[in-house]
Amino acid sequence: MRTARAVDELRLALAPARRAGQRIGLVPTMGALHDGHLSLIGRARGECDVVVVSLFVNPSQFDELADLERYPRSERRDAELAAAAGADILFAPAVEEVYPSGFATAVEVIGLSDRLEGTVRGAEHFRGVCTVVAKLLGMAQPDVAYFGQKDAQQLAVIRRMAVDLNLPVRIQSCPTVREPDGLAMSSRNARLSAEQRERALALSQALQAAARGAADGERDAEALIASARETLLAHGVEPEYVELVDPETFVASEQLQREALLVLAARVGETRLIDNALLRASSPTPPSPTPSQPHPRKAIA
Ligand code: PAJ
Repeated sequence: MRTARAVDELRLALAPARRAGQRIGLVPTMGALHDGHLSLIGRARGECDVVVVSLFVNPSQFDELADLERYPRSERRDAELAAAAGADILFAPAVEEVYPSGFATAVEVIGLSDRLEGTVRGAEHFRGVCTVVAKLLGMAQPDVAYFGQKDAQQLAVIRRMAVDLNLPVRIQSCPTVREPDGLAMSSRNARLSAEQRERALALSQALQAAARGAADGERDAEALIASARETLLAHGVEPEYVELVDPETFVASEQLQREALLVLAARVGETRLIDNALLRASSPTPPSPTPSQPHPRKAIA
């Protein structure tokens, strides 16, 4: 694996593959790689001829300077992990390479960026994400870019941006990788004390509670949200938000029709964690009973 620090260097490294019509995959990351990131790299390895992993802690998407400053940085370890997972090129630019003096452009997905994570973290967060992802896509010009379902709203915002700007790239989502006990992997998990780590399990358990409700036929969003909230509170975790939303628009759903995304965020101690699960209606929303349909067909999961 080679490391490129400048955009020209990256372009030069990719030129032969591009000329040969090979498929280029990009996995954007902020480093501190864990198995969640590595699953994206592995997926890209399986589908692409050349795999680029970008490693850039993007200042413009942090709402708190303190959060940016304490973001874990471990390039040497990340490089080893990325190479072992199948990366061909590590693109690790300095801040000045990405935002040179005179830089004056921002990309914003209106509406979708203001909800939930956007409300809590400020509109600048997704503006920062979109701007840097648009730049990374412009720099590497990949055929496919890989993102985790773990950050469901980020994925939805990036998909919207790619469609709206006619970006010639396929945005590929990858399933959330979890610890054996269910906690979604995140670089922030390292900040949890043993006691907080235990309480953090409440997030995935809350999603499971709502999923059980959906499987048992509950369709009312408020009831599904309440079951998740109760699970969080029972573990002493105060939710920032728990919502049932459309997976593409993030508009709140009142009823679970076919499928909807249960998204939640909570602070455990000082550490802010998010998680989500796609809830599926296990059987159609009960219409007014019709004798001709005594056995409602199960929706295909
Ligand atoms: P980062 O938090 O480093 O995450 C990089 C990618 O890994 C994102 O697509 C994220 O959704 C995915 N990821 C994180 N944890 C995961 C898990 N447990 N399972 C599966 N995928 C997981 O997200 C960012 O960086 C930045 O916002 C970025 C897109 C790089 C722009 O700066």
